Amino acid sequence: MQTVSTLDMLRNATSTLREGGRTLALVPTMGALHEGHLTLVREAKKLADRVAVSIFVNPTQFGPNEDLDAYPRQLAEDSAMLEAEGVDLLWAPTVEAMYPEGFASSISVTGVGAGFCGADRPGHFDGVATVVCKLFNQVRPDIACFGEKDWQQLAVIRTMARDLDLTFPHVDAIHGIATVREADGLAMSSRNRYLTAELREAAGTLPLAMKEAIARIEDGQDVTRSLAALEDELLGAGFDRVDYADLADAMSLEVLTARIDRPMRLLVAARIGGTRLIDNMAVS
Ligand code: PAF
Repeated sequence: MQTVSTLDMLRNATSTLREGGRTLALVPTMGALHEGHLTLVREAKKLADRVAVSIFVNPTQFGPNEDLDAYPRQLAEDSAMLEAEGVDLLWAPTVEAMYPEGFASSISVTGVGAGFCGADRPGHFDGVATVVCKLFNQVRPDIACFGEKDWQQLAVIRTMARDLDLTFPHVDAIHGIATVREADGLAMSSRNRYLTAELREAAGTLPLAMKEAIARIEDGQDVTRSLAALEDELLGAGFDRVDYADLADAMSLEVLTARIDRPMRLLVAARIGGTRLIDNMAVS
């Protein structure tokens, strides 16, 4: 695996990887890799001839009171994990290379980016859309893989790719990969490591309570009451706050108070011991 940290080196490396018409996949990450990321890499390997992974802790998607400084950084460990997976290229730019003096542009995706985490974390999705657009332009992959765990992020990136006519990768080449879960069902996340053993055990209530709420909704019970019961269950289990627990149209992310005959998604963000956990599941 080749590791590069300047744009010139990246361009040379990607043109070598593309020789002979080979296809290239990109897996954008912020590092602190876990099994969820490695699943994205394995899926990317099935979809393209060569795989590039980016590791960049993007400051513009963190709010002023968020965990940018505390966000885990472990490039050597991440690099060894990617090498073992047979990744071809690691793109690990510095903050200065990504946002040089005078950097003044930002991409804002309204609609799908406005509610949920967009409402709780102002500016977050502008930071995500801008950095992902830069990563696409830098690496010029044929396809890109993102985790479905960040369902709203996936919707924002697909909308950005469609609206800005991005050709690398175009909207159909953005692959959402199913969430990887721990044995108790908790979605894997770099933030899970902030939880003490006690809080980690309590966090396992999140996927269970979501499944119970989905069963009630699919059974025809009132959506608002089913979601209120989900919130009560989380607060009773030790969560400090539920930022949102909503049923939404899976594509437009419009919040629903009753079932519709299109794909739906239950989206939840809840805080436990200062750590904000998000999850989402399909509802039929
Ligand atoms: O999901 C993430 O890890 C980040 O939001 C991403 C897509 C790499 C952009 O910084």
